[in-house]
Amino acid sequence: MEQKKLIIAIDGYSSTGKSTVSRTLAARLGYAYIDTGAMYRTVTLRAMREGILRDGRVDEERLARVLETITLEFKNGEMYLDGENVEKEIRGLAVSGNVSAIATLAPVRAALVDKQREMGRAGGVVMDGRDIGSVVFPRADVKFFLTATPETRARRRHEEMTAKGERVSLEEVEANVRQRDHVDSSRAIGPLTKTPDAIEIDTSHSTIEEEVEHMLTAIRHASRD
Ligand code: DC
Repeated sequence: MEQKKLIIAIDGYSSTGKSTVSRTLAARLGYAYIDTGAMYRTVTLRAMREGILRDGRVDEERLARVLETITLEFKNGEMYLDGENVEKEIRGLAVSGNVSAIATLAPVRAALVDKQREMGRAGGVVMDGRDIGSVVFPRADVKFFLTATPETRARRRHEEMTAKGERVSLEEVEANVRQRDHVDSSRAIGPLTKTPDAIEIDTSHSTIEEEVEHMLTAIRHASRD
């Protein structure tokens, strides 16, 4: 009998190692990995390029037209905007600084949630984000919620940024991590929240390999039920 292709939802705070764990888990299961944060980042990039987003202000009418025509695709785990590989650009500081303004807008969330449901419908996916287990797939087969202390997350993010040559202090990064936590958890639509059926994993003191093993065990249990 062919094994059922599951929908695995992974939510959690930024810099918990969520995307690395999700990507690794998807590879181990032979599933597709869908990084929904990359989708919000890509809409932000297109809005910035077209001058729809300026100084934190958004032209919502023009943005609505963009949402109708935009093509978002993952190819070999990288993000493509209307056929162009934008993987590098969406991770830069400019997009990171603007993405919250876009991710809080109701029409953006509605359009992206639709696309995410379409991408995951057939199963065989690991999808990571903030609202996957709560809004996108409330009936996902297995849900995980990743946490880590703000200090741990700030240290990881600081290491990543320093490695890329960005000059920023650990204090600034920690302030930014706390600010993003606040924005992610307090927005009106699709806030970051742990649903009661999600398995919480604290990544402060574990390796990626340990976390993936923990998840695989939980997934094996769930697929037996
Ligand atoms: O995971 P990330 O840092 O790449 O996410 C980028 C932004 O998008 C972040 O501000 C949170 C937001 N986001 C969201 O609102 N809902 C999701 N499902 C995924 C990300």
